[in-house]
Amino acid sequence: MKTIGFHIQKGGVGKTTCAVNTAAELALAHKVLVVDADPQGNTTSWMVTEEIDKDLCDVLQGKASLGEAIKKVRENFWILPTFAIGGELRAWTDVNLANKPKAITLNVMGKAQELGFDFVVFDMSPGMATLERMLVRNCDEVVGIVKAEYFSFDGIETYEAEIRKLREDFDAVFVADKLVLNQVNKGFGIHNAYAEKLATTKYTLFSIGQSTKVAEAQVHHQTLREFDPKNKANDEFAKVAIALLNKQLSLLGA
Ligand SMILES: Nc1ncnc2c1ncn2[C@@H]1O[C@H](COP(=O)(O)OP(=O)(O)OP(=O)(O)O)[C@@H](O)[C@H]1O
Ligand SMILES: [Mg+2]
Repeated sequence: MKTIGFHIQKGGVGKTTCAVNTAAELALAHKVLVVDADPQGNTTSWMVTEEIDKDLCDVLQGKASLGEAIKKVRENFWILPTFAIGGELRAWTDVNLANKPKAITLNVMGKAQELGFDFVVFDMSPGMATLERMLVRNCDEVVGIVKAEYFSFDGIETYEAEIRKLREDFDAVFVADKLVLNQVNKGFGIHNAYAEKLATTKYTLFSIGQSTKVAEAQVHHQTLREFDPKNKANDEFAKVAIALLNKQLSLLGA
């Protein structure tokens, strides 16, 4: 099993969009759990249409088991939801999580392994509070998401500084070698210039095109591939999925 966080401190860049659409590509051939680890609950409102009674915070606190809380949303594809309204994820994790690392490593990751998941994908909140720090340091891999805009370069610097700090503070060994440049419009010269500049960094760069269908799919509670199968961005999400898969195969020694 492999655990992957989609993260960057900057808000509104496409973390949720990329996490869920990439996870859906992985789920075409593997058993995948997406954990909605953002108190905003965007993955949940997008993909979970049935009533929920238990959420991530209940699992972290041991009030519910992972198996009781997860919802099957498609073949091979499950979501651990988060209550956006009335949820206690941020408040509880800020106070308790630093002293209870097993809430993540055992209650979520360990149980996911027992349930036979191949991938656990975390849709993370912007910012870097206790929850985000604990998730990143315990994931096998973190994927950074940036939008095609000038301020993204500041975002990458902050991201790198925090990754460095996590590695120093905890001897954490997660992989952080991929960046997704989201909402790229190839007709905009400046977007191409950003892509070229990012391509010279140490990261393997993936570009996702800008398309209103990406956002519309969410309104319809569908992945992009379901809503608009011919959209080019599907192949771009698939490329991210394949890269994550290759890393897993190498982890397994294949
Ligand atoms: N490639 C794209 N083309 C068009 N719209 C997009 C694309 N990617 C994301 N969006 C839209 O941009 C908005 C922000 O995306 P998303 O919610 O995934 O960002 P986020 O980083 O998860 O935000 P937050 O930091 O609040 O969690 C959403 O309305 C989404 O539909
Ligand atoms: Mg989000």
